[in-house]
Amino acid sequence: MNEQPPSPPIIGVFDSGLGGLTVVKALIDRSPDFSLVYFGDTARFPYGTKSAETVIRYAIENTSFLIDQGATIIVVACNTATAVALPRLQSLFSTPIYGVIAPAAARAVAVTKTGNIGVIGTSRTIKSRSYTKAILQLLPEAHVTALACPLLVSLIEDGAPSEAIKKLIVSEYLRPLQQKNIDTLLLGCTHYPLIETLIQEELGSSVAIVDPAKACAEIVCPSIPCNSTTTTYRFFASDDTHRFKAIGEAFLGIKIGKVYTQTG
Ligand code: DGL
Repeated sequence: MNEQPPSPPIIGVFDSGLGGLTVVKALIDRSPDFSLVYFGDTARFPYGTKSAETVIRYAIENTSFLIDQGATIIVVACNTATAVALPRLQSLFSTPIYGVIAPAAARAVAVTKTGNIGVIGTSRTIKSRSYTKAILQLLPEAHVTALACPLLVSLIEDGAPSEAIKKLIVSEYLRPLQQKNIDTLLLGCTHYPLIETLIQEELGSSVAIVDPAKACAEIVCPSIPCNSTTTTYRFFASDDTHRFKAIGEAFLGIKIGKVYTQTG
């Protein structure tokens, strides 16, 4: 009797909204041959200002939803959800679950020469100290300066009244990091890679920038047997699927087809 070939893996990715598409892009750029189901929790966005308990509850619901949709591997694209909910998810579900923090911390530690590492993220991510702890575990002598930059998410998603205002806000947020002489900056939020050029210009070329989306894709992709012949990408959002599609296509740089609500 012929054995059935193993079913191709389906990567389930969730985020508080659109930002996690930076992780999807990094996954596709690295190895496009897998199927993917994405859930953007746009109805409950943002997570970065919410309590850890609330974000954990949302993360559990999102993971269950993706597994119900057939996901065989889960990627928590949201830095805030990874920061507060990853261990809980890994203890609750038997499906392999990856976050963005450990891969990004490992990358930052590999890249830094002075051990002066900056981290920027949402208020909840920074309050959790998850990045700081992950870096210090790998490099106990590191000096980590972690800063919340709460305005950046809406600045990136909704735009600024002018480029000058955008530059001013970024510059004000990054000033304390420049005073600390960091040589590496970790972009600890899904949205920040979208303004990486502006951040690099502000900090100068001597500061290395670490993008957790790429670091995560480097860990996740080799673990996926990419033999899928039927590659499909499905996108779900919990609110305003039209806005998700319009902004999502701009974020991803590819057409994403129909965006479904959780109920179909
Ligand atoms: N996706 C979130 C993160 O990476 C940013 C947006 C939010 O606050 O929900 O932390």
